[in-house]
Amino acid sequence: MRFNPRRIKVGLELTSKCNLRCGMCPLPVLRRPYEDMEWPLVEKAEREIHGLGLKLKWLHEMGEPLLYSRIDDAIRLFPEASLSTNGLVLTEEVGAKLLASPLKRIRICVDSINPEVYPQLRTGGDFEKLVDLTRKFLVQAKGHPLRIEIQKMRSRLTLDETVDDFKRVFDLKQYRNARVIEKTCEALDVNEETDLHGKFYGCVQGAFFTWVVVFADGRVTHCCYDAHGDQVMGDLKTESLREIIEGDRLVQMQAAFEARDFAQLPRCGECFKHGGESHAFNDVLTRVQNLPGVAKDVVRKVIDVRYR
Ligand SMILES: C[S@@+](CC[C@H](N)C(=O)[O-])C[C@H]1O[C@@H](n2cnc3c(N)ncnc32)[C@H](O)[C@@H]1O
Ligand code: SF4
Repeated sequence: MRFNPRRIKVGLELTSKCNLRCGMCPLPVLRRPYEDMEWPLVEKAEREIHGLGLKLKWLHEMGEPLLYSRIDDAIRLFPEASLSTNGLVLTEEVGAKLLASPLKRIRICVDSINPEVYPQLRTGGDFEKLVDLTRKFLVQAKGHPLRIEIQKMRSRLTLDETVDDFKRVFDLKQYRNARVIEKTCEALDVNEETDLHGKFYGCVQGAFFTWVVVFADGRVTHCCYDAHGDQVMGDLKTESLREIIEGDRLVQMQAAFEARDFAQLPRCGECFKHGGESHAFNDVLTRVQNLPGVAKDVVRKVIDVRYR
């Protein structure tokens, strides 16, 4: 399959192990082992991803990347990548490792500043500890070029929390390298509407092949919502990334997607469970997904009326 490297986002799951079992996340019921990626595979992934002219976007799929013992070495291999963390192992020692690395952006997923709501999202997380570690990390990283994003999760449970509330809790006016970002929760596992997320109406990615996600065991999927690996394109342990992308499996899956044949595509079937099969509707989503970063965020926010 011909592909445009600038259109493809890449994720590398350094570990599928996690210290939390969050309410909105497929990790607690993951149908794959909890394991670390072997270091030689990380090195192979670097050669393959960069060799195809691709850039790594995230150092995770499922799992907590700061649990990976060679996280700083991985960042050195992928200096363009960002890191998203639940923040609960972001100690001074880990912070020092990150600040000595070429990491450019870290996202700390606080999600809610309501101590009653936080554990419903971040099951197993200690709210006071997270606030304390985050405040200390902000001090430690003050004046550093690292961009720090404090994530706020939009859901029915967090309707009364504002970006300004988050700024106040972390006293962000002191830290020019830190800001609050808002994210919506997506139905990744159970596709019914819940207090945490709305339904999907078709392919939220806008197109079938938008991602290359390498799981900790080396298997490669085409969509970052395919947490369990239901639609794997190939295996980086035994194939090159070019062979995987140019292989028959992806062509077959793409044809099944165009025909809306979800018997062959269980993950896509979940996204289309509530409708959205129309190609015209999907074209609109594709156009939104292809807007540049900030514009996409604004448009998605306007059309996202699920939590109002
Ligand atoms: C799966 S986590 C892995 C990295 C790390 N453990 C963390 O929590 O940031 C990566 C991102 O996925 C987000 N996430 C988890 N479940 C989600 C869902 N159902 N919808 C949208 N984002 C979700 C988290 O908020 C986090 O920003
Ligand atoms: S959202 Fe992150 S921290 Fe929470 S269970 Fe999923 S992988 Fe772990």
